[in-house]
Amino acid sequence: MAVGIFDSGLGGLTVLDAVTRRLPDVPFVYYADSAHAPYGVRTPDDIFELTCAAVERMWAEGCDLVILACNTASAAALRRMQEKWVPGDKRVLGVFVPLIEALTERQWGDNSPPREVEVKHVALFATPATVASRAFQRELAFRAIGVDVEAQPCAGVVDAIEQGDEILAEALVRSHVEALKRRMPHPEAAILGCTHYPLMQQVFQAALGPEVRLYSQAALVAESLADYLARHPEFLGPGTASRFLTTGNPAYVSDKAVQFLRRPIRFEAA
Ligand code: DGL
Repeated sequence: MAVGIFDSGLGGLTVLDAVTRRLPDVPFVYYADSAHAPYGVRTPDDIFELTCAAVERMWAEGCDLVILACNTASAAALRRMQEKWVPGDKRVLGVFVPLIEALTERQWGDNSPPREVEVKHVALFATPATVASRAFQRELAFRAIGVDVEAQPCAGVVDAIEQGDEILAEALVRSHVEALKRRMPHPEAAILGCTHYPLMQQVFQAALGPEVRLYSQAALVAESLADYLARHPEFLGPGTASRFLTTGNPAYVSDKAVQFLRRPIRFEAA
């Protein structure tokens, strides 16, 4: 009974690895919209249309529950999808909220009023579309008060990763961290608000310094998904096989996936 995991490209594989470890008996259908990546430089309408098309394809694979393992889609399209588009017998969930709950030390589903939290200065690294949406700040304001968020749109990083250019990706990460530190010299915590960025986690940590606590989503999303499926087993859906689908060139995408994940992955044409 398969669950769908969606990203514009390879980043969601960081989430897929964690959910597979946490839920070894659940098959997952991974969908990379590589032909249209990066999403982070697209308009909200464009991101909405592309994400809906991908989700429909995963529904056809029997994935009644789809996780948007893409912050850009979660920030720019998810609310509109949930309000106007997702039918009652399907679910589409994002990756933003589990991260914010961890940062604000909240339990899953805690809807009490916003309160002061320990972390006061937070650096957010995300795609230009995620930063422009201000979805992170909006969700954070529901849960915490007095947190200063400095957001850095990390143009070019997703593209460099998708092209397998690790040297360029590293250089870009270092320059984005420097740019952020000019505006917020001493963040206590940093959010990797794009599922591609854990592939560069060591570079982020080295550039930020060891005292900055890095939050990334994979393990948090895996825990939230396990909790959700325990409460809603009907959303496991009728699919039974794990598959990797891409709208790009399957051989090329498989090759880049192996380079970053360092394990064999074989994509098929979506
Ligand atoms: N992994 C996507 C995210 O989490 C990357 C978006 C893009 O394609 O720019 O935002």
